[in-house]
Amino acid sequence: MRMVDLIDKKQHNIELTEQEINWMIQGYTEGTIPDYQMSAMAMAIYFNDMTKAERSILTMAIVESGEQIDLSDIEGVKVDKHSTGGVGDTTTLVLAPLVASVGVPVAKMSGRGLGHTGGTIDKLEAIPGFNIELSKEAFVELVNKNKVAVVGQSGNLTPADKKLYALRDVTGTVESIPLIASSIMSKKIASGADAIVLDVKTGAGAFMKSVEQARALAESMVEIGNTVGRNTMAVISDMSQPLGNAIGNGLEVKEAIETLKGHGPEDLTELCLVLGSQMAYLGGVGNSLEEARAKLEENLQNGKALKAFELFVESQGGDKAVVDRPEEILPTAEHSKEVLAEQSGVVSMIVADQIGIAAMKLGAGRETKESSIDLAAGLYLHKKVGDKVEAGESLATLYSNKPISEEVKTTILDNMHISQTAAPLPLVHDIVR
Ligand code: URA
Ligand code: CA
Repeated sequence: MRMVDLIDKKQHNIELTEQEINWMIQGYTEGTIPDYQMSAMAMAIYFNDMTKAERSILTMAIVESGEQIDLSDIEGVKVDKHSTGGVGDTTTLVLAPLVASVGVPVAKMSGRGLGHTGGTIDKLEAIPGFNIELSKEAFVELVNKNKVAVVGQSGNLTPADKKLYALRDVTGTVESIPLIASSIMSKKIASGADAIVLDVKTGAGAFMKSVEQARALAESMVEIGNTVGRNTMAVISDMSQPLGNAIGNGLEVKEAIETLKGHGPEDLTELCLVLGSQMAYLGGVGNSLEEARAKLEENLQNGKALKAFELFVESQGGDKAVVDRPEEILPTAEHSKEVLAEQSGVVSMIVADQIGIAAMKLGAGRETKESSIDLAAGLYLHKKVGDKVEAGESLATLYSNKPISEEVKTTILDNMHISQTAAPLPLVHDIVR
């Protein structure tokens, strides 16, 4: 086989065979197929798309390019959740204990944040003592005992994706639905998920700017999952404004605890219930999404979800006093500043990605993989889209361990629009199953 022939085929919109795709991904992983040929292929895929069959084959070829996590020692259906990246997305911190509290095992491998989107591992490390480096045995044992554990990514999972994603990043081929769908699904499958729930974000803060693009991506991932034997569902949710009120690691831990106590922000609570009911349902709880949701709502009210969080934190070495006294236990920032509204009206837009970048500049995120992170830094939005505001009232509080510049304040003011009226923002656009 010659790579140039495969490029030629894709360029002429002829379907690639399983044998060809497997050969190509193996060769690219091993380095016998060079970057320049793979970039030409990625561009041909970008323009000519892939068939449903090609997408599933590509996904499994990427899975097989490296190690796969075997979670068969964990009892029950292992359901994983993936979000396509948001700003201030606190859902995993809430969902892991919430779903565990209804008996579904949550064996989660998570990453660190990069750029303006946060990572669950960084958030958990805001809790003093919390250990994300568990041995495989300890991880499995904890999930069997408590139904929940979270570890940092380790091992050589999907090396083909690492190479291909980096290549796409510099060749203008990131925004291709078959390439995004296979990239995301291969990572979930290689981490051992039996069933997968996807939160596909749309709006200014998201990768997929329109609902149509988000739906196409969601449908493709659901199709791939179900074709390769993993029950998969997706939610298309709005990320034109940040989720919840807190953005920043320690601040989001506090927000998650409030949500598990039943008085978190409305949008965050609702999205956790929507995603959580899909996870619980796929994990075998209830005969419908409605039944699964009722169980989750019950555990938010009766304190079982909060108890599951406490046990989860304690079992991984974290200080469980964080549940009752988050202000005392979580890191605090040396500097804080209020951003005051310059006019009265209604908040009509909060540009999520710009707010995320402001939080990163305060120290909450990494500009490069090597940058260190300020776990106390970030911001708290006192107003969301649709809220009334008076001139002089605080729109947001900024937190940082370095002096806070006027520039960050200006970014917030420029990206929280105040008008006379505001159109309501939907939270969940659609469900794909
Ligand atoms: N996230 C991924 O993991 N892969 C992509 O291709 C795009 C977003
Ligand atoms: Ca949040």
